[in-house]
Amino acid sequence: MKLIIIVAHDPNLVIGKDGSLPWHYSEDLKFFKRTTMGAPLLMGRVVFEELNEKPLPGRENVVLSRSKSYDHVKTFGSIDDALEYLSDRDEVFVIGGGEIYRQMIDIVDELVVTEIKKEYEGDTFLVDYREDIGTVWEEVWREDHEEFSFVKYKRSPGSKES
Ligand SMILES: NC(=O)c1ccc[n+]([C@@H]2O[C@H](COP(=O)([O-])OP(=O)(O)OC[C@H]3O[C@@H](n4cnc5c(N)ncnc54)[C@H](OP(=O)(O)O)[C@@H]3O)[C@@H](O)[C@H]2O)c1
Repeated sequence: MKLIIIVAHDPNLVIGKDGSLPWHYSEDLKFFKRTTMGAPLLMGRVVFEELNEKPLPGRENVVLSRSKSYDHVKTFGSIDDALEYLSDRDEVFVIGGGEIYRQMIDIVDELVVTEIKKEYEGDTFLVDYREDIGTVWEEVWREDHEEFSFVKYKRSPGSKES
């Protein structure tokens, strides 16, 4: 199974403010949709609440929470249990938020990043992966737009932590 983080961040690695995204870029939302469509999504409880507890359509939504469970989506109290449940899937997208990215960045195989060019105020940050570009992370694709760039990184062979 390939594990992929998908995330949008500003130049200071801001990813969220007051429990939601600090920005609205419809092209980025479309990119997110077409990239993840059909694949399972793994997310933290705060992100699921941001979706008003409505699963994103066309993709199996899997939630991580130690305090809650839901009737309409699979919920797991640990990352290991969620990954075991998802182990027979080809690809799984880790869609945040900050706590989940922080705990999973060392085990994912790829990063799909929207680098937003404008600075925003925020209270949730992405763990700093940029110091590892060129060692742990190899850029394999980039598409530059006026307000943001879409970038894909693959974990370099031999760099996965055990
Ligand atoms: N820019 C982006 O691409 C992007 C993407 C996603 C989210 N965001 C932003 O990020 C913010 C939310 O991030 P966040 O860090 O506050 O919350 P989060 O990561 O979405 O969720 C945190 C919650 O997940 C559960 N959890 C965490 N680790 C767990 C584990 N190992 N096992 C089981 N459950 C676990 C806990 O839920 P319980 O408390 O229920 O136990 C915890 O409170 C929002 O502002 C959102 O808009 C941005």
